[in-house]
Amino acid sequence: MDKLVIEGGVSLNGPIRVSGSKNAALPILLACILPEGPVCLHNVPRLRDIHTTLKLLDILGCETSFEGNTVCSEVKDLKIEAPYDLVKTMRASVLCLGPLLALKGEAKVALPGGCAIGARPVDLHLTAFEQMGATFDLDSGYIHGKCDKLKGAHIHFDFPTVGGTENVLMAASFAEGETIIENAAREPEVVDLANFLIACGAKISGHGTSIITVQGVPSLKGSNYKVMPDRIEAGTYMVAAAMTDGELLIQDCPFQELESVVYKLRKMGVSLEEEEGGVRVRRANGLLSGVDITTQPYPGFPTDMQAQLMTLMCLANGAGTIEEKIFENRFMHVQELVRMGANIKLKGRTAMIRGVERMTGAPVMASDLRASASLVVAGLAAEGRTDVQRIYHLDRGYEKLEDKLSAVGAKVWREKE
Ligand code: EPZ
Repeated sequence: MDKLVIEGGVSLNGPIRVSGSKNAALPILLACILPEGPVCLHNVPRLRDIHTTLKLLDILGCETSFEGNTVCSEVKDLKIEAPYDLVKTMRASVLCLGPLLALKGEAKVALPGGCAIGARPVDLHLTAFEQMGATFDLDSGYIHGKCDKLKGAHIHFDFPTVGGTENVLMAASFAEGETIIENAAREPEVVDLANFLIACGAKISGHGTSIITVQGVPSLKGSNYKVMPDRIEAGTYMVAAAMTDGELLIQDCPFQELESVVYKLRKMGVSLEEEEGGVRVRRANGLLSGVDITTQPYPGFPTDMQAQLMTLMCLANGAGTIEEKIFENRFMHVQELVRMGANIKLKGRTAMIRGVERMTGAPVMASDLRASASLVVAGLAAEGRTDVQRIYHLDRGYEKLEDKLSAVGAKVWREKE
C-alpha cells in the first residue's frame, strides 16, 4: 500500500486547476447504459472510482474507452448483474439499478455494504422503485429486482437522498408516464446528471429544486457531454490556501455551487475573490476565527467538506463546533488530527474544536476519502513530516493530488508503506 509523505510548513502559492467532478461523473457514466448509440463524456477525472465504474460498464456489456479525460461508451449486449466483488469496492454501483430496471425489467445488484462513514442503506431507492412497479427480493446478498415496464409514480423521499434521486431520475426517464420526485436532492451533481439525460432526449424539469418532474420517453440518443468541475476538490484547495497562509488561484472553480462553504470560510477570515482566471483565495488578515457548522443537504453546508473545515478550525483563534447530521460515523479523522496536536472533543455527532498555535507532523491513517484529504491538508501546515497511510482512499476522489500540490510549492511525495 502507498502512503503520502508531506514536509509541512510551506505556504502554497499559484494557480491550481480543479478536475471534473467524481460525484457527477459516476451517475452520468452509469446513465450511459440508457441511450442508444455512442456517448462521449469529457472532463472525466482519472480516479479509482471512475476506473471501477468503467469495469462495471464492461461487465454489464458496454464497450468503453478512456483517453485522457474523455470516456466513450456504447451498449453492445446489456447484462443485468453487478457482481459483489465490484460493488463492495464502490457502493455507487447501486446506481445501475435504475437504468437496468428501466431497460431490461430486471436487475441483480449486490447489496452495497456499509463503509467507514456509515451504514449507507438503499431502502429509499427500493421503496421508490416499488412505487414504480418493481418487486425485489434479497437473495444471497444480492438485490434482485423485477418489473414488467416501470410506470411513472408520485414519489416522496423521507430524506433528500442524492443517490436515490439519481437512481429514480434515470429510471423515470424511461418509465411510462409522468414521475414526480418530491423532497428530491438538489445537489449540483444531480443537476449535472439531469442535464446529461436531457442532452440525450429526456424530458426533465425542476432539477435543482425539491420537486423534479420527468415525462418518460421511449428512447434516448447518445450525445457528447462535459462533466461539471468538482466542487469538493475546489473547496479542499480553498482550505489548503488558508491553512498554509498562502494564496491560490483556483481555476475551473464551481464558485456558485460552493456558496455555503464560501460563507463559512469568509466568516473564519478567509478572502475569496472571483476574477478572470478563477477564484483567488488567501487569509484576509492573517488570523482565522472559529465558526459553528452543521452539515445539511444542498444548499446547506456539504458533509463532504466537514473534515476539511474541521482541519482549518484546528488552527483558528478560539473555538468552533461541527455537527455532522448526514452520516452517523464521519469523525474518523478526529483522532488522527488530535495526534497532530489538534484540540478536538467529540460529543455524539458534534465536535468541539479549540484552535491551537501549531500542529506537528506525525504518521496518520486515512479511513475514508474526505478524512484522507483533511489529513493531507493538516500535514501541509504542520511542522515537520506527516506520513498519511492507506492513501488509496484519497485516490478514489482526487486526481493527481500530489502533482497539483507540488506545483504550488508543497513538499509532498508518494512512498511504499
Ligand atoms: C452521495 O452519497 C455522495 N456520493 C457522497 O459523497 C455524499 O457525502 C452524499 O451524497 C451526501 O451529499 C456520491 O455521489 C457517489 P445520500 P449517497 O443517499 O448518494 C441516508 C464522497 O466523499 N440514506 O444522500 O450515498 C444515508 O444513510 C461521498 O464523495 C438512507 O437512509 O448519499 C445517509 O445518512 C461520501 N436510505 C444520508 O441518507 C437511502 O436509501 C445521505 O445519503 C439512502 C440514503
